[in-house]
Amino acid sequence: MSKLTHKDVLRADQFSKSEIALIVEIAREYEQALAAGRVLEVMKGQVLSTLFYEPSTRTRLSFEAAMLRLGGSVISVAEAKSSSAAKGESLYDTMKTVEGYADVIVLRHPQIGAAAEAAAATYRPVLNAGDGAGQHPTQSLLDYYTIEKERGTVEGLIVTLAGDLKHGRTVHSLAELLSSYDVRFVFASPAALRMPVDIVARLKARGVSITETESLADAIRTSDVLYMTRIQRERFEDPAEYDRLKDAYVLTRSMLAGAKDGLTVMHPLPRVNEIAIDVDDYAGAAYFRQAANGLAIRMALLALVTGRA
Ligand code: NCD
Repeated sequence: MSKLTHKDVLRADQFSKSEIALIVEIAREYEQALAAGRVLEVMKGQVLSTLFYEPSTRTRLSFEAAMLRLGGSVISVAEAKSSSAAKGESLYDTMKTVEGYADVIVLRHPQIGAAAEAAAATYRPVLNAGDGAGQHPTQSLLDYYTIEKERGTVEGLIVTLAGDLKHGRTVHSLAELLSSYDVRFVFASPAALRMPVDIVARLKARGVSITETESLADAIRTSDVLYMTRIQRERFEDPAEYDRLKDAYVLTRSMLAGAKDGLTVMHPLPRVNEIAIDVDDYAGAAYFRQAANGLAIRMALLALVTGRA
C-alpha cells in the first residue's frame, strides 16, 4: 500500500515530489522487467475500462498496453458516439455503470473538470487522460520521466513551453508539475495563445521564474528543453483564427543551429506542422522516446492506484 492506493489521478499538481519519485521508480522497474523479457502478473484478474470521448492514439494505446503488460484485462469505449453518451446518458450514470465492470477507469473527455466529476461519481480510481483544455497529468509524469532520462535531472534546467499555451492541457499540467523543482520557464507563444493568467499567477506566487516571449528563435537560444505543442484546432471557436495561427511556430533543423549543446526537443504528439521531419534525426529529438515512456509510467500508475505495486 502506498499513499496513491485508491487515489484518483486528476491534476498534475496533486503529486508531491516523493510521490513523483515513487512513480518514476516503479516505472523504471517495470521498464527493466519488460526489457529483460519478464512476464508480469501484477494486475492479474483486474479489469481496466478506458472511456475516450475525444480522439487519442498514444494515451489510450499506452494505457491499454500497460494493463495488458501487467497481466490485466481491458474493456474499452473508443468514442463517445459508440457509447450511451450518444443517447444522452450522463457521465454520472456511465460511471455508476462502469464501476460494476472494472477495477480502474481511465477517462478522456472534452469538458474541463469532467475527470473530477467522474471521480466523484464512483468509488473506483479514475485517471484523467485529458479533460478538454484542462489537465493531462499522466502525460506530465511521462514528460518528467523523459526529461530525467534524457538529462539526468530536471533540476537547474531552462524549459521552454512553446505553441498553444492557451488551450494545451499538456503544457498546463507540465508547468504545474515542474514548478516544484528548480526549473526556469520560458513560455513562447503567439500573443493570442498565451499561458492562462491564473496558471502564470500561481507559478509566480510560488517563486517560479517565468519569461514570456513571442519569439521561438529567442527561446531556442536559451533553452535546455524545448517542449513544442500543436495548435489545438478543436478548441477554437473561429476557424479563421485557427488558420491565422496554425503555422505560427514551425521548428526546422536549421533553427537549431543556435541552440545550446544537448538541447532536448519534446512534443506530446500528435504533431501537425510544428516540427519539420528534418528535426527527427537530431540527437536531442526525444519525442518518440517520450511517447514510448508513457507505457512504463502508466503501468506504474495503474499498479499504484489499485494497490498492486
Ligand atoms: C495531447 C493531448 O491529447 O492533449 N496528446 C497526447 O495525449 N499525447 C496533445 C495534443 O493533442 O496536442
